[in-house]
Amino acid sequence: MKSSITLNVHGITSFADADKLNALAGEAAVHLRSLRDGTGRGNDFLGWLNLPETARLSTGKIMACANRLRSQAPVTVVIGIGGSYLGAKALIDALSDPFAHPGHRIIFAGHTLSEDYHAALLRHLDGIDYNIVVISKSGTTTEPAIAFRILRNHLSARTGKENVSRYIVAVTDAHRGALHNLAVTEGYETFVIPDDVGGRYSVLTPVGLLPLALAGYDIDEFIRGMQTMAALTRDNDDPSNIALVYAAARNILYGSGYLTEILVSYEPTLAAVAEWWKQLFGESEGKENRGIFPASVSFTTDLHSMGQYIQEGERHFLETVISVTASGSEMRIPVSPDDSDGVGFIAGRKMTEVNERASAATRLAHISGGVPNIVITVPCINEFYLGQLLYFFEISCAVSGYILGVNPFNQPGVESYKKNMFALLGKPGYEKEKERLEKELKVKS
Ligand code: PA5
Repeated sequence: MKSSITLNVHGITSFADADKLNALAGEAAVHLRSLRDGTGRGNDFLGWLNLPETARLSTGKIMACANRLRSQAPVTVVIGIGGSYLGAKALIDALSDPFAHPGHRIIFAGHTLSEDYHAALLRHLDGIDYNIVVISKSGTTTEPAIAFRILRNHLSARTGKENVSRYIVAVTDAHRGALHNLAVTEGYETFVIPDDVGGRYSVLTPVGLLPLALAGYDIDEFIRGMQTMAALTRDNDDPSNIALVYAAARNILYGSGYLTEILVSYEPTLAAVAEWWKQLFGESEGKENRGIFPASVSFTTDLHSMGQYIQEGERHFLETVISVTASGSEMRIPVSPDDSDGVGFIAGRKMTEVNERASAATRLAHISGGVPNIVITVPCINEFYLGQLLYFFEISCAVSGYILGVNPFNQPGVESYKKNMFALLGKPGYEKEKERLEKELKVKS
C-alpha cells in the first residue's frame, strides 16, 4: 500500500495548549459526524463528500471527450473563474514541466476582465487549431460569459459557423442557466456539475477532471488519492484524524489572535494549489465578520521579500508548510575545482536536500520569531498525492468552518460586487441601484 500525506503540529506547541488542542480535535469529530449525517449548516451542498466513490462513474465519458478533443487540436482554452477553474489550474500547474512543450496545451481564460489579456490570447490563437471547454455552474457568470462570446466568435471564423460546435464542450448545470440553454441550442457536448456540489468543492467533478484528462494526466490516480484520503479523514472519527487536528489547530490559533494563515510551499509549481486553497478557505470561512485570512508565499523566493515581515512584523500569522519529500529529478550542486562562488561547502548535495535544510532553518527561525508552524508532508507531487492533499483540505475546511460556527458552503459576500457591477454597467433591472451608486461614486472619487 502507498503511503499518505502526514501532518505535524509540533510547531504550534509553544503557542497553543496541547490539552485544548486534543479536546477541540475531539469536538471536531462531532462536526465530522454531522457533516457525514448531513445535519450541519449548508447540508444541501454535501455532494462533494462522496465524489471519491461516485466520480468513477463519469470517467469513461470524460476520457472519450478528452481523447476526441486532443485528436482534433493541439490546444484547449478552458474558460472559467473561481471554483470553475482554480482546481484544474492547480493540478495542471503542479504536474507540468514548466519549460516543456506539452503534447496538448491548456490555456485558461474567462478568469479576468482584462482587455489586454484576451486581446493577447486572440493574437496568440490566430492560426492555431483549438478547442474550447467552457465551465460555469450557474451558467450566468459575467467573466466567463464574455470570454466565451469572444472566443467562440474567433473560433467560428476559423472553423466555419456550421462546424464550430464540435470544438466546444460545456460543463454546467443540468437544467438551468444561459450556458445550459446555449449548449442545448447549439448542440455542444456537455457535462453536468451536480446541484449539491459548490464551485470550490468541484475539482472531482468534470470541472477538474476534464481539463486534467485533456492535459494528459491520470484521472484515475487522482480519484484514487481522493479515495485514500476519504478513508483516512471523512470516515475516521478518531481525534488523531489529521483533518480534525488541522481544523482544531487553526481554530485554537485563531482564537488566540492568529488571524492570518500563510500557506507556504518550496515548490514553485504549487503556487496555483495555494490559489485553490485560498479560495477554499477564504470563501468557506470568511463570513459573519469571522474567519482566518488565507494568504500564501512561495519560498525560498519570498524569503527575500515577505520573509522580513513574517519574521519581525505584526504577530498575527500562522504558517502551514507543504513539504514535498522526494523530487522527480536528480540535480546535484556541481563540484568545482575552485570555490570562487562560495558554495563549495554544499558541492555534491542534492538540491532537494538544500531546499529541505532551508525549510527547516526557516521553520525554526519563524517559530522563534512568534509564528506558529504546521507542516503537511507530501511524499511527492503526482496525481495520487495531489488527490490526497486536495481532499484533506476539503474535509479540514468543512470541519473547520463548523467549529468556527459558519456555513462553509455558501458565499453570500460574492454577490455584493456582482450586484454593484451589473448596476454600474447598466444591466436592465438595476436602474435604481445604478443611480444610487453613481451618486456615491461622485462623492468618493
Ligand atoms: O466557489 C464558488 O461558488 C465560486 O467561486 C464560483 O465557482 C465562481 O463564482 C464561478 O461560478 P460559476 O461556475 O457559476 O460561473
